[in-house]
Amino acid sequence: MTSPNLQDLLDLDRRHVVHPHLPLDAKDRTVFVRGKACSLWDATGREYLDATGGLWLAQVGHGREEIADAAATQMKRLEYFTTFWDFSHDRSIELAARLARLSPEGLDYSYFTSGGSEGNDAAIKTARYYHSQRGESSRTWILSRTTAYHGLAYGGGTATGFDEMKAGTGPMLPDVAHLTPPHPYRSWLFDGQNPTDFLVAELEATIERLGAQNIAAMIAEPIMGVAGMVIPPEDYWPRISAVLRQHGILLILDEVVTAFGRIGHWFAADHFGVTPDIMVTAKGLTSGYAPLGAVLMSRDVAETVMTGHGYPVGYTYSGHPVSCAVALANLEIIEREDLLAAAQRTGAHLAQRLEPLKELPVVGEVRQAGMGIALELVADKESRRPLPEPGPGIADIIRDETGVVVRVSSSHNLVFSPPLVMTEFEADRAVDAVESVLRRVRPDGTVVSPGSVA
Ligand SMILES: Cc1ncc(COP(=O)(O)O)c(C=O)c1O
Repeated sequence: MTSPNLQDLLDLDRRHVVHPHLPLDAKDRTVFVRGKACSLWDATGREYLDATGGLWLAQVGHGREEIADAAATQMKRLEYFTTFWDFSHDRSIELAARLARLSPEGLDYSYFTSGGSEGNDAAIKTARYYHSQRGESSRTWILSRTTAYHGLAYGGGTATGFDEMKAGTGPMLPDVAHLTPPHPYRSWLFDGQNPTDFLVAELEATIERLGAQNIAAMIAEPIMGVAGMVIPPEDYWPRISAVLRQHGILLILDEVVTAFGRIGHWFAADHFGVTPDIMVTAKGLTSGYAPLGAVLMSRDVAETVMTGHGYPVGYTYSGHPVSCAVALANLEIIEREDLLAAAQRTGAHLAQRLEPLKELPVVGEVRQAGMGIALELVADKESRRPLPEPGPGIADIIRDETGVVVRVSSSHNLVFSPPLVMTEFEADRAVDAVESVLRRVRPDGTVVSPGSVA
C-alpha cells in the first residue's frame, strides 16, 4: 500500500476528522508523521522542536524503541482482558503496586482509566459514593476553582472553570461551586489581602454557606497548568487541606499534568507536602505511548467504595494490559535516566533564559516549576490586562517561522512543557525562537513582520 501524499492527507483530514478547538474553515493542518526525542517531522519532511510534549506529556521523548518493544511483547502475550469483577492480570497488578510505592504515603490503591477526563469523572463519583457508603449521602457538592482545567467530560468538565469550554453544552453536573484560583499575579482577585488569607477565608465562608454536611470534595490541580502554570503560595496547600480535613471534605488532587516528573518530582503533592484522599493522574504515566490514567485512592477511600456491590465505576479499558506494560517501561526510563533531576535542571535553565524577556512590554510574568513554564502575556504591565488574542496565533507564527512548537494556553499564556529529555541546546533554540517573535508583538496582540519594529 502506498502512503497518501500530503495534499491527499490534508483533503481527507478536512473532510473526515473532527479536531478539538479547531473551526472547520481554519488554515491547513500540520501533519506529523515521525518523532525522535524532542524532534518531530511533518509530512513534507520539515523538522520541528517539540517544546510542548504534545499536551504536557512525552516525558521520555518520542520514538523510544524500548517502550514499543514492551507494548509488542505484551500484545503477543495478552493483548486484552477485562479487570471487571474478579478478573485481573499481571501487568495491571504490577503497575498498581508500583504506583503505591511511588506515590505519597497512604495512596495504596489505583483505579485505571484511559485518560484524565475519565479519571476526574471517576474521582468525583468516588468522592460522592464514599460519603454515601458512610451514611452521608447529603454530601454531593464539589468545590473547584475558576480557570481550573479538569478535562471536558461532564463531571470533570463541570469542575473545569472556563465558561467558554461549557457554553452551549449545559445543563452541566449539579452541585459544583467555583472558588477563586490562587493566582498571586492577578492581585485584584484578593481585595488587597494576603492571597492565602483571602482564599482560606473564602473556603471557610463557602463551607459555612453550603454546609459541610453537603460537601463531598474539593477538586484541584496543585499547580494550574492550562491556566498558565499558576503556582500557589507555599502556605496555600497546607492551609486549604487543613480546613478540608477539619470538615470531613475529601481532597482530590488532579495531577494529570504535574505528576511523573513534569515539575521535577514524582508528584506535586510531594513538593507541597500535602496528601490527598484521591489523586488523578494520566499523561506522563505512559508519556503518551498508550492511553492510560490512574486514580489513586487512600486505603480508607478504596476500602469504603469497594464494599456492598463494589465500586460503581468501570470502563472496558480499565487497566488495559498493553497500556500498563507501556507505563511500567516508561516509569523505568524516568527512574533510570533520573528525569526528575533533568526536569529541575533544564527547567531552571529555561526559566533563567526566559526571565530577561520580562523587559518586553507584553511579558508580564514568567512562572516555572520543573519543565512546566508559562509566560503571561499582557496588554500593559500596570493593569496586567491579558494580551488580546491576535488573528494568527503567536504560537502559530513561532511554529511557522522557526519550527519550534509552543502553545498559547487560556488565551494569553505562552506555555512550554517539553519532553524532560530536552537538552540545553534545544532549550536555547526554543527560547531564541520565542524571543524572536515576542519582540514583535504589539499590545493589541498583533505581530509585526520580521525586520519591522514593534
Ligand atoms: C489538569 C488536567 N486534568 C485533566 C485533563 C484531561 O485529561 P484528558 O485530556 O486525558 O482527558 C487535563 C488535560 O490537559 C489536565 O490538564
